[in-house]
Amino acid sequence: MTAPLIDPYHRAISYLRVSVTDRCDFRCVYCMSEAMTFLPKRELLTLEELDRLCTKFVEMGVEKLRITGGEPLVRRGIMTFFEGMGRHLESGALKELTLTTNGSQLRKHAQALHDCGVRRVNVSLDTLDADKFKAVTRWGRLAQVLDGIEAAREAGLRVKINTVALKGFNEEELFTLTEWCARDGHDLTFIEVMPMGDLGNEDRVDQYWSLNDLRARLEERYSLVDTPERSGGPARYVRVEETGQRIGFITPLSHNFCESCNRVRLTCTGELYMCLGQEDMVDLRAPLRASQDDAALESAIRAAIAKKPKGHDFDYSRQEVRGQMSRHMSHTGG
Ligand code: GTP
Ligand code: 5AD
Ligand code: SF4
Repeated sequence: MTAPLIDPYHRAISYLRVSVTDRCDFRCVYCMSEAMTFLPKRELLTLEELDRLCTKFVEMGVEKLRITGGEPLVRRGIMTFFEGMGRHLESGALKELTLTTNGSQLRKHAQALHDCGVRRVNVSLDTLDADKFKAVTRWGRLAQVLDGIEAAREAGLRVKINTVALKGFNEEELFTLTEWCARDGHDLTFIEVMPMGDLGNEDRVDQYWSLNDLRARLEERYSLVDTPERSGGPARYVRVEETGQRIGFITPLSHNFCESCNRVRLTCTGELYMCLGQEDMVDLRAPLRASQDDAALESAIRAAIAKKPKGHDFDYSRQEVRGQMSRHMSHTGG
């Protein structure tokens, strides 16, 4: 039995987020620029390498694997990788295999995902207005995503909707989104917008809608009861008494949650980022490729965890952006 992964702040690392591609069929304004240059294919870890790396993490105590991108379902052959990871669910080593997706390819893959042991998907959706959806995703079609969500539900997957709270964009849809999720039985999580990537003309301070304010708006209509329920990520949840639904809040700006951080992020080229909000990373591709024996890989992983920082430095409180990351969200998959 290998020793568990514990970081310098005594946090056990049990959650690995794996970005399997930097590509996406959308160009969400807060995540990518319109003219992104993507990595050449030869830079990517192969599906076999991804399997070997994830398997190593599972052996080292990772119990939750979230597949991200870019858009994970646009990577060719990705279902083979999901099938492979299913064996760790069957053995009991892995407790959860899941993904974060824009939903565009769910009609095609929902049933196969369920067959691999996936039980829950997080789908990014910031608006239910088709024109606004087009504006925020640049390339997306709302109807296709709604159909994908429906396919997930039909396949028996539980759906959590991720909504980035954007001032002047989806404020007036707060109740529409909440009611739609209540009606269709989806969990809903709101996320504060983070300063990732080249912000160009985007003004994060202007876009920032604190979830303290959002919650107060919800409370004008509903009774919210704090619950200790957790989904393994950074969200804190409430129950809405009137509807029984669950709403989560991810508050990197208004309330830092780093003290309970349990996760690290692997990119599609094998870089391990120990924190979403810091630049530091460790290359795992070289030790992976250097030998079929896992000893070097294992010590590189331990050395990385030993460097996990205390937390991010995102801050808008002085009416300016602090702690900004130059890399795009699509690099690490959020
Ligand atoms: P659950 O398993 O449902 O709890 O999912 P999750 O919240 O862990 O994952 P998801 O991919 O749905 O992430 C939702 C949002 O939370 C994304 O915008 C992420 O960037 C953000 N997020 C997740 N983990 C972290 C983190 O460690 N730090 C920060 N600052 N944001 C995070
Ligand atoms: N700030 C907050 N959330 C973001 N996401 C993408 N970019 C940002 C950002 N700058 C969200 C997506 C998706 C998740 C992986 O990250 O909407 O739900
Ligand atoms: Fe963990 Fe870094 Fe996210 Fe904080 S910002 S919760 S330390 S990954």
